[in-house]
Amino acid sequence: MTTQPRLFSGMQPSASSLHIGNYIGALVQWRDMQKTHDAIFCVVDLHALTVPQEPERLREQIRRTAAQYITAGIDPTESTLFVQSHVPAHAELAWVLNTITGFGEASRMTQFKDKASRQGADAASLGLFAYPTLMAADILLYGTNHVPVGDDQKQHVELTRDLANRFNSRFGDTLVVPEPVILKEGARIYDLQNPEVKMSKSAANQNGVVFLLDEPSRTAKKIKSAVTDTGREVRFDRGEKPGVSNLLTILSSFGGQSVAELETAYEGRGYGDLKKDVADAVVSVFEPIRSRALALLEDPTELDRILADSADRAGVIAETTLAAVYDRIGLLPRTRR
Ligand code: TYM
Repeated sequence: MTTQPRLFSGMQPSASSLHIGNYIGALVQWRDMQKTHDAIFCVVDLHALTVPQEPERLREQIRRTAAQYITAGIDPTESTLFVQSHVPAHAELAWVLNTITGFGEASRMTQFKDKASRQGADAASLGLFAYPTLMAADILLYGTNHVPVGDDQKQHVELTRDLANRFNSRFGDTLVVPEPVILKEGARIYDLQNPEVKMSKSAANQNGVVFLLDEPSRTAKKIKSAVTDTGREVRFDRGEKPGVSNLLTILSSFGGQSVAELETAYEGRGYGDLKKDVADAVVSVFEPIRSRALALLEDPTELDRILADSADRAGVIAETTLAAVYDRIGLLPRTRR
């Protein structure tokens, strides 16, 4: 029986590769925190269905996402690493949470508003609207204490806390109220071609998105073509110099030097030097992750076994919470006398 705090987090398999924002904002924290936590990492495939997906590609993307977790440093012998749809309790608890979530409350979620406005409000699905309650179910099923995520997920974790508190006050103490864990630097990486907006897997122009599984030469090219700003000085200033500031954040996350130290190191040097160093740093970290992931995917038998074993483990925990929730809200247990 472990006494470590429980960690839960996940990523959507909504592209054929994770990107540098996912890596810095979430994966690096996951890798570090798995040492001090009883950690559960999920490939949230049901969430990916909230926008249209092509079935064959989705299947491939689910495996690719899991492979990148492993080769970026998630140890499947230490941590649980599974696919959300393999544990039916996620969808079941989400339904219960839907019944205690206000329509207005769900309408205020900024990610829903953004995605719905991009698709046109009428094209947005009910699933997209209910996305945050499924995410709350993911977290609450496992008695999660800590949820390491990027800045864009903060509002969803806040909603999860509200729902846990609401459930507990209506039906008695049942659910653990989780805390988000968000980095001070690197919680939001911006698009290299448009450093005013968050880097996103679904960006229309992929030149601003650095993917873990991109070929190293492509990664270097994208970074060297990053939009910088007028002026020459390498200085962190989100308002005046969003492009340079983004590159400094990335380099700081990869090289271990603080942004202030980097500003001093680049005194009297230009943007070209900065870009080259960022490209070298990113390629040297991503290249081995990429080649190991591609090797692992060549024969997915081992990966599928890891995912199946982990789903069994996760399922036991999830079923226990779901049974407690069903009992509290007055559902009948399925028993034979
Ligand atoms: P997703 O798949 O969009 O992103 C996965 C993780 O990467 C972080 N992230 C970023 N961090 C910094 N800069 C960026 N540009 C950037 N883009 C993404 C996200 O904050 C996230 O931590 N709703 C979640 C998935 C989810 C989940 C959960 C997470 C479903 N259930 C339960 C935690 C716990 C999402 O869409 O992540």
